[in-house]
Amino acid sequence: MRRVALVTGGGAGMGEATSRRLARAGMAVGVLDINGENAEAVAAAIATAEGEALALRADISSRTQVEAAVTRLRAQFGPVTVLINNAAVESFCAFQAIDEEGWDRQLGVNLKGPYIVTQTVLPDMLAAGWGRIVNVSSFGAQTGAPNMVAYTASKGGVIAMTRSLAIELGPKGITVNSVSPGFIDTPMARRAIEGGLFPVPVEQIVASYPIPRLGCAEDVAAACAFFASEEAGYITAQLLGVNGGAAV
Ligand SMILES: NC(=O)c1ccc[n+]([C@@H]2O[C@H](COP(=O)([O-])OP(=O)(O)OC[C@H]3O[C@@H](n4cnc5c(N)ncnc54)[C@H](O)[C@@H]3O)[C@@H](O)[C@H]2O)c1
Repeated sequence: MRRVALVTGGGAGMGEATSRRLARAGMAVGVLDINGENAEAVAAAIATAEGEALALRADISSRTQVEAAVTRLRAQFGPVTVLINNAAVESFCAFQAIDEEGWDRQLGVNLKGPYIVTQTVLPDMLAAGWGRIVNVSSFGAQTGAPNMVAYTASKGGVIAMTRSLAIELGPKGITVNSVSPGFIDTPMARRAIEGGLFPVPVEQIVASYPIPRLGCAEDVAAACAFFASEEAGYITAQLLGVNGGAAV
């Protein structure tokens, strides 16, 4: 049976890799991104190489935009029963310097976004009695990270939301899991590295990991695809680190 998946932040990095991976697994994929051009490019690449996709431009912190995007996806491919809550924004700022606007933006996109998108898609999963929700968190929420209090707080919220939602939705045939990436080579990580935001070169940081390299987007996509698969139906409320062993 062909499933319909929605991947937020599908226009770049892990979202792009996950969109392509799910399409290769036979799903029709809604590639949602605030950057409409990137979403179009990824959907076109999938249509050429992997399968079916639809580009959707939307800001996940806007319920109106998300509802319009999900309505388009349903109309094109049918009910949406796989959701990858991947889109997020980063910020680096000393705690005392975080203003309320910055705090609200981090929490608004990274935590309220998954809440809005999940509420919008959930009726399809409830009607099907089947669903897969994967929330992308961050190892920074597990280990702590200096100058990232707002970001890590939002991702800690994503981890807690995952567990509570899993308990609520398990009896309805819907699994909810979280993938927690470590250092992954994506545009987000590159912005931080090139902006000199780490105290030592990133190669030095990852050298101490059991697997001493940066992760790649496909490493995370593989974990998301597993949680999204038919076979993962008895696995819920889990947090899977894709971090080279950097955190448990
Ligand atoms: N890269 C890392 O090292 C790392 C580490 C831990 C966790 N993460 C998490 O992994 C996920 C993917 O990160 P990435 O590195 O691929 O990021 P990225 O910045 O490379 O890509 C994120 C995508 O999300 C989109 N996006 C941003 N805000 C949006 C919004 N409001 N609405 C819709 N789309 C929006 C962007 O346009 C972009 O295409 C994020 O949740 C991130 O917090 C990343």
